[in-house]
Amino acid sequence: MTWLVVKMSEKDQTRLEQAKESGKYIRTIRSFVKREGRLTNGQANAIEQSWPTMGLVHENGLLDFKLTFNNDNDVVLEIGFGMGKSLVEMATQAPDQNFIGIEVHRPGVGACLLDAAQAEVTNLRVYEHDAVEVLADCIADNSLSRVQLFFPDPWHKKRHHKRRIVQAEFVENLRTKLKIGGVFHMATDWENYAEHMLEVMNSATAFKNQSSNNDYMPRPDFRPLTKFEKRGHRLGHGVWDLMFERVE
Ligand SMILES: C[S@@+](CC[C@H](N)C(=O)[O-])C[C@H]1O[C@@H](n2cnc3c(N)ncnc32)[C@H](O)[C@@H]1O
Repeated sequence: MTWLVVKMSEKDQTRLEQAKESGKYIRTIRSFVKREGRLTNGQANAIEQSWPTMGLVHENGLLDFKLTFNNDNDVVLEIGFGMGKSLVEMATQAPDQNFIGIEVHRPGVGACLLDAAQAEVTNLRVYEHDAVEVLADCIADNSLSRVQLFFPDPWHKKRHHKRRIVQAEFVENLRTKLKIGGVFHMATDWENYAEHMLEVMNSATAFKNQSSNNDYMPRPDFRPLTKFEKRGHRLGHGVWDLMFERVE
């Protein structure tokens, strides 16, 4: 049997200790394993050219939305945008909203910036960092109109379920960042993860399920099909959308 052993590097260990000392939020069980993956020339050029206008940095701390976007429009935050195709599409289709994307995978960040430059979107900014830390350190309380989490890594094996990003503590941190009336929108093609999401959200009493059956929602028109979803369709998977409104 092969086991996935995820050991912390010395650099990460030092970073963890420094962050703890400075009072920064930092966690040890992560929802991702950093894959290096090769950057294409197009992705590398896109990062070089677009980072000064579109890149956001975790170390800069609390983000001022008005200064960042030059307007007071609603802000939608997406966690783990992958290659960013659906995020750029959403930003293009909703120019009266602002979008912040967070992704740890550098080629994904490059691909997203490449698409964004081609689409000439001005209402999108991105972090290349762990979304859990960005939420805790950079996003003001009561500030987001929507948080989207589309096709998060399902961590299939039971012993890895603790790595799933949707956990009670994460949901409570996320709740404080949403405005009252703001929505946490999740989608997954893994039934067991959908059930887990529903269980965690049903225990989070400050949220109201927007589904009239108290379970799943049809895919809303504003959510484009993502790469992972198309793959899921090909494999014959179902897709579950969950939308919960912050009420307290
Ligand atoms: C299965 S992929 C789905 C990507 C995209 N949402 C889609 O549907 O095509 C999940 C993505 O979430 C990213 N991810 C996982 N945990 C994350 C975290 N804590 N912060 C930022 N990104 C994360 C991974 O790098 C990966 O790209």
